[in-house]
Amino acid sequence: MKSSFSFILDGTVVTIDAESGLPPTTTVLEYLRASAAHKGVKEGCAEGDCGACTVVLGSADASGRISYAAVDSCLVFLPMLHGKELVTVENIAPDTGLHPVQEAMVATGGSQCGFCTPGFIMSLFALSKNHDHPSREVIDDALTGNLCRCTGYQPIIAAAAASCVHGGRDHFSAGEERVAAMLRSIPQGSICLRTEHQVYHRPASLGEALSLLHQHQDAIVIGGASDIGLRVTKRHELLASIIDISGIGELKACADQGTFAEFGAGASLSAVEESARAAFPALAAMLSVFGSRQIRNVATLGGNLGTASPIGDMLPVLFAYDAVILLEGMNRRREIPVREFIVGYRKTLRRPDELITGVRIAKPGPDAAVRSYKVSKRKDLDISTVSGAFRLERDAAGRVSSIVLAYGGMAERTKRAAAAEEFLLGKPWDRSSVEGAMALMSKDFTPISDARAGAEMRSVAARNLLLKFWNDTQR
Ligand SMILES: Cc1cc2nc3c(=O)[nH]c(=O)nc-3n(C[C@H](O)[C@H](O)[C@H](O)COP(=O)(O)OP(=O)(O)OC[C@H]3O[C@@H](n4cnc5c(N)ncnc54)[C@H](O)[C@@H]3O)c2cc1C
Ligand code: FES
Ligand code: FES
Repeated sequence: MKSSFSFILDGTVVTIDAESGLPPTTTVLEYLRASAAHKGVKEGCAEGDCGACTVVLGSADASGRISYAAVDSCLVFLPMLHGKELVTVENIAPDTGLHPVQEAMVATGGSQCGFCTPGFIMSLFALSKNHDHPSREVIDDALTGNLCRCTGYQPIIAAAAASCVHGGRDHFSAGEERVAAMLRSIPQGSICLRTEHQVYHRPASLGEALSLLHQHQDAIVIGGASDIGLRVTKRHELLASIIDISGIGELKACADQGTFAEFGAGASLSAVEESARAAFPALAAMLSVFGSRQIRNVATLGGNLGTASPIGDMLPVLFAYDAVILLEGMNRRREIPVREFIVGYRKTLRRPDELITGVRIAKPGPDAAVRSYKVSKRKDLDISTVSGAFRLERDAAGRVSSIVLAYGGMAERTKRAAAAEEFLLGKPWDRSSVEGAMALMSKDFTPISDARAGAEMRSVAARNLLLKFWNDTQR
C-alpha cells in the first residue's frame, strides 16, 4: 500500500506523501490557493454553491481518451486527485494567445469585477470539451453552478455559444496522448495516508474497501465527499478516519441488462443521469435539477442514499421505480427494496461494516407512468422543499391497478402517501378520484415548518404535485 498519491498539474506529475505535512482532508482549493502560481481559483462560499473555485479534472479511459469534468475544488479532498489531471484557469491558454472560451468571454464582455470569471472560464472549458454547438439548455446546465453578481449571464451564455463550436478540439487535444501516457505512469494501487491526527485510506478494490471497513467500522466512508466535505469546510471538523471509495472502478459501472439496469453506488450522478435518460426518464429528470453540474460530476448515488436525508432527491424517485439497494459486507451480500431500506430519520438498514454497492431498477412496463417533481425556492442548485415521485398503472378499464405516491420533505424520511394510495386503488384515474386522494393526504403527513417553508405550504405543494401528476398523465 502506497503512502503517497499523484496527479498531473502544470504538465508534470506531482506526488504528495503523508510526510508532506498536508492533512489528507486539505481541499484542492486550499492547495491551489497556497501556491503563488494558482491564485486564479477563488473561494466564494466553500460549500459548492458559487462555482468561483471551479477547476476541471481530466481522466483517461481505457482507450487513452481524456474526459474533462468541471468540479468545485472547495469540496474535493486532495487525495481524490490521484490518477487525474488537474486543470486550472492558469493552464488553459495555449503558449500564445487565449483559449477560445477566453477569447469569447473578452469579445462578449463576459466579465466585470472578475471574481467569478475564472470559475466561469473553467465551466466553459469543460463545456467546450464535451459539447459541440450546445443547445441553450445544455449551456444553462453547464453554468448552473456558477454565480455572477455583476456581469449578468447573457454575455457569458453568448460566449458559450460562440466558443463551443470546434468539436472539442483545442491545444489540449494535441497533448492528449502525452497526458494519457503520464496518467498511465501513475501507479494505480491502494493508498494509506497516516498523519499525526488522521488516517486516510483510498482502497483500489471493493474487496479491500470491505476489509478496511470491517476493521474500522467507525471510519467515515466518502464517495464524492460533496456532503462530508462540508463537515471540513464549514464545521471545521477533524475527520480522524476516512475510507475514500472514489477510486474503486467496480463501483462506478452503470449497466443496462435488458429488463433491468444496475447503477454502481460509486457512479457520479452525471453518469447516472446519462445512462438513465432512455429507460428511466423520471430519474434523469430529477437529476437535471440536482445541485449543479460541478456537484453531479463528483456526487455519487451511494452517497445520496448514504445520507438518508428526508429531502434527498434520489429516494422518492427510487421509491417510484421500486428500486432495490445492493449492499455488500465481508463475505455477505444483501438486496433490500428501497422502501424498506429507510427506517427513520437518517437511518437505514445498512450495517456499519457494509457498503452500498449499487441500485437495481426493473424497467417499468410500457403502460406505467412514472414522473418526478421537485419544489424548491430556486429551480436550480437548491435543495428540495418538497419532492414527489409517482408511478401509476391502470387496468384495461382505466382503473388504478397500482400506484406509488412517494414524497420527500413531508416527514422525517421519504414516505409514501399510504391513505391516498389506498383510496385510489381500483378507482377510475380521473380528477374526482385524485381530488379525493388529495384530501386524504392530511392523514398521511404532518410536515414541519422550517426556514424553507411552512407546514401549510408543504401540505398544499404535496397535494398539488399529485394533481400535476394527474394532469401530466392526461396528455
Ligand atoms: C452545493 C450542493 C448542492 C446539493 N444539491 C443537492 C440536491 O439537489 N439534492 C440532493 O439530494 N442532495 C444535494 N446535495 C447533497 C449531496 O451532494 C448529495 O447527497 C450527494 O449525492 C452525496 O454524494 P457523495 O458521493 O458526495 O456523498 P459523500 O459526501 O461522499 O457521503 C455522504 C454520506 O453517504 C455515505 N456513503 C457514501 N458512499 C457510500 C456507500 N457506497 N455506501 C455506504 N455509505 C456511503 C457517507 O459515509 C456519508 O455518510 C448537494 C450538496 C451540495 C454541496
Ligand atoms: S467556493 Fe463556492 S463553490 Fe467552491
Ligand atoms: S463579474 Fe463580478 S461576480 Fe461576475
